[in-house]
Parts: sequence; C-alpha cells; structure tokens
Amino acid sequence: MAMERLDKLLASTGRWSRREVKELIARGRVLVDGQPARRPEDKCDPQQASIQVDGEGVDCAPFVYIMLHKPGGLLSATQDKKQATVLDLLPEHLRRRGLFPVGRLDKDTEGLLLLTDDGPLGHELLSPRKHVDKVYYARVDGRVDQQDVDALAKGVTLGDGLTCLPADLEPLGDGSECLVTLREGKYHQVKRMLAARGKPVVYLKRLSMGPLKLDENLDKGQWRPLTDRELRALKASRG
Ligand code: URA
Repeated sequence: MAMERLDKLLASTGRWSRREVKELIARGRVLVDGQPARRPEDKCDPQQASIQVDGEGVDCAPFVYIMLHKPGGLLSATQDKKQATVLDLLPEHLRRRGLFPVGRLDKDTEGLLLLTDDGPLGHELLSPRKHVDKVYYARVDGRVDQQDVDALAKGVTLGDGLTCLPADLEPLGDGSECLVTLREGKYHQVKRMLAARGKPVVYLKRLSMGPLKLDENLDKGQWRPLTDRELRALKASRG
C-alpha cells in the first residue's frame, strides 16, 4: 500500500478526528515502529509499519470486514428512524466508518451477515452474475419432499409470477428442516419459494455465503473481523 499521512491513517479508523490525532501525537502517545511519532504529516505504510496509540496496536487497513451472527429482531440496514439495526451491535468507531451489510437478512432471520466499507467487493458479492452461493437452514410448517427438491432445482415461480434461478434443496431428518442454497438474492426469497411449495418457513438462518461460514463460536449478536484467510477466499470467490 502507498505511503499515507499518519493523521489521515489514524483518523480513517473512525476512532479519532484529525484534531484529536494531532493532540495524541503532540503528547507522544503515538508510536510508529516503537518510536514516538513527531508530526501529523509524517508518512508511513500501514501494511509495513506498526502503529500504536497508548501502547495498543491500531489496525489502519483501508477497509474493515466484519462477520456478524445476526440475531432476530434487528434490521439489516445502516440506520432506521424507529428500529434498531445490526449496526447498533458494533462499537462507535466502526459505525462511523460507514459499514453496510452485504445483502439483507429479514428482521426475523438469523445467521451470517458480512459488514464492510469495501463498496466494490460488497457489490460484486451481491451481483447475480458472480453466483456466490448462500446456504440457509430453514424449518418449515410441513415437510419438504423430493417434489420440492425437483421444483427448486428447476426454478420455482413465485406468487407474483417471478421465476427464480435453480436452487438446491436438501431435506433434513423428517423434512421439517432443510438446507436451501441460493445463487441470487430476491426479496424474502427462501420464504417465498417454500411458501410457493405450500411449506411456509417458520425459522430461517443463513449459514454461509460463498466460502464464508458462520463461525460457530459466535453467539447471536457477536461479531469478529474476518481472518486474512477468509478475506482471501472471499475475494477469490468473485470469479
Ligand atoms: N430469504 C428470505 O426469505 N429471508 C432472508 O432473510 C434471506 C433469504
């Protein structure tokens, strides 16, 4: 990555304003490679340099990628006048960065949600042309069977006449549970596809998106940054 001004780099994390960074530097609270930073305009390469504020390492990567285990009851939106959104689960400095959810989950849907401020990557992952598979676990009222499997494989026509791309359906146990794999993301798609088959969804959870799998160690409402390995795999999956 190119050399950047220290004040710009630190302010881009959303933790401090440029004025605050200037103050931190003046007070000797910012170290670059173990040495006190001297001036806000000094330049460094965030991928090479170790930057610390008050003894704590600061990640100045240009973009942030967060894996969130979305709980039910929150909107997949960046803000809403009346209702809580998934952004409310993140600390202030991340909210200030302008993160957005990559694809929406319904308010009552749980599971894997990727949040990032990397616009181009987010949009590519959502593009139907990129065919990034999304796998959902669903519980239905009724039991899915081989006819449903065949219907989804052909492409279900929804109530409004819209035909979906072929999707995979894998019944689990007695068929009241199943896995559904989509390659597109129409509004309420899993619910509408299974409703069109007469098996309304009573619970829905997203398990994966391309190579990204929901971390079983994350409880509902918890999040963590993607690992380097996950990020590399995700970028490679754009085709
Ligand atoms: N399909 C749905 O019906 N709801 C979701 O939240 C995601 C996919």
